[in-house]
Amino acid sequence: MNGNFVYANPTKLYFGDEAQKNLAKALSGFGKKVLFTYGGGSIKHNGVYDDVMASLKAAGKEVIELPGVMSNPTVDKLNEGRRIARENNVDFILAVGGGSVIDYAKAVSVSAWYDGDAWERFWVKQDDPLKGERIIPVGAVLTMAGTGSEMNGGSVITNHAANMKIGKVFGEEVMPKFAVLNPRYTFSLPHRQMVAGIFDTMSHIMEQYFSGDDDSTSDYLAEGLMRSVIASSLVAVKEPENYEARSNLMWSSTWALNTLIGEGKSQDWMVHMIGHAIGAYTNATHGMTLSGISVAYYRHVMKHAIGRFARFARVVWAIPTDGKTDEQLASEGIDALATWIKTIGAASEITSLGVTPDMLEGIADATIILDAGYEKLTRQEIIEILRASL
Ligand code: NZQ
Ligand code: ZN
Repeated sequence: MNGNFVYANPTKLYFGDEAQKNLAKALSGFGKKVLFTYGGGSIKHNGVYDDVMASLKAAGKEVIELPGVMSNPTVDKLNEGRRIARENNVDFILAVGGGSVIDYAKAVSVSAWYDGDAWERFWVKQDDPLKGERIIPVGAVLTMAGTGSEMNGGSVITNHAANMKIGKVFGEEVMPKFAVLNPRYTFSLPHRQMVAGIFDTMSHIMEQYFSGDDDSTSDYLAEGLMRSVIASSLVAVKEPENYEARSNLMWSSTWALNTLIGEGKSQDWMVHMIGHAIGAYTNATHGMTLSGISVAYYRHVMKHAIGRFARFARVVWAIPTDGKTDEQLASEGIDALATWIKTIGAASEITSLGVTPDMLEGIADATIILDAGYEKLTRQEIIEILRASL
């Protein structure tokens, strides 16, 4: 393992088809006033709202509801939440939904008691750590598997006026105190959202896996997770109510991005940086922005890490090696990824997401360029990858 690191994850998980039975007890450790935040209303149709309300009542909480958190939550919505949290002096924020709602809850958590411009302070300034700001603790009930937000410090906020979508990774103090993971809660997801979450999970693992060339336990863990995601995805797209598959997908998505498999790794994250810029321009579904560009991106960077891409083909996709060069194997691994994207029904290109050729320069300008994967891209290379993805 490379580097020196501290590993701690404070999020307590309650997993399984009876996980919600733990919610009242989990809430009892926190204050009386709970800000209950959720999205556009799916939880009112699938029974999750009623389960949560019953637990809040059983725990004797005073509830302030904050509905209407949109996919890819915006700065304006954040400012509304900050005001409500502050005016009501809430003790706890309970996020019930997918990554958007949980990210939103964390954003309100850190910024409610901050007096200035939260977007500038917490998202634009990436390297400015928290300085003792008052933080409102967060808990989560997950209804969509994919982002890993239920067990990490990430919070992605979109500023449409600035054409920017920025993810901030906060530390332990902002990670959810607990998360309730009931795979049955994900059964009501529209097929397209389920698939977007599956690809998002796979992408999180690949972003960490495709960096470095040392022999690292993190990579073996990543390979196991990828194999599980692929196997369960093929079942879930045919049988969305297959509990075994959906439970594996939920558990894998949590472990894909709760810091474990990134330990000792430099990590890439350029697919996400380009994907977020596409999202800022189009408001497209996060997982689909990633699937739309991944094949072109990996074909572009493959030449810098033939050995790693050959291993990906061999171990993750079980491609026979007989008589093949590493170059051939590496290329076949990416072919397998492309075929899988089509098989599960994720986006294979970005035109269907609303990207037009005249946007490519702007998307490239809105992309934050990182330098930890196999290559530091230039603006021109980003444009080429986007063009190859149209
Ligand atoms: O708004 P509601 O009614 O809840 O509907 C949502 C939304 O329309 C619906 N949905 C969720 N659970 C459902 C359901 N519909 C029926 N039944 C259910 N059980 O699905 C739609 C998408 O939900 P959303 O929360 O937006 O999706 P996701 O979980 O993919 O979250 C996307 C956001 O997370 C950020 C993305 O950038 C995006 O803003 N990310 C957060 C990360 C993190 N915190 O670490 C990392 C990721 O890479 C990602 O960037
Ligand atoms: Zn993601």
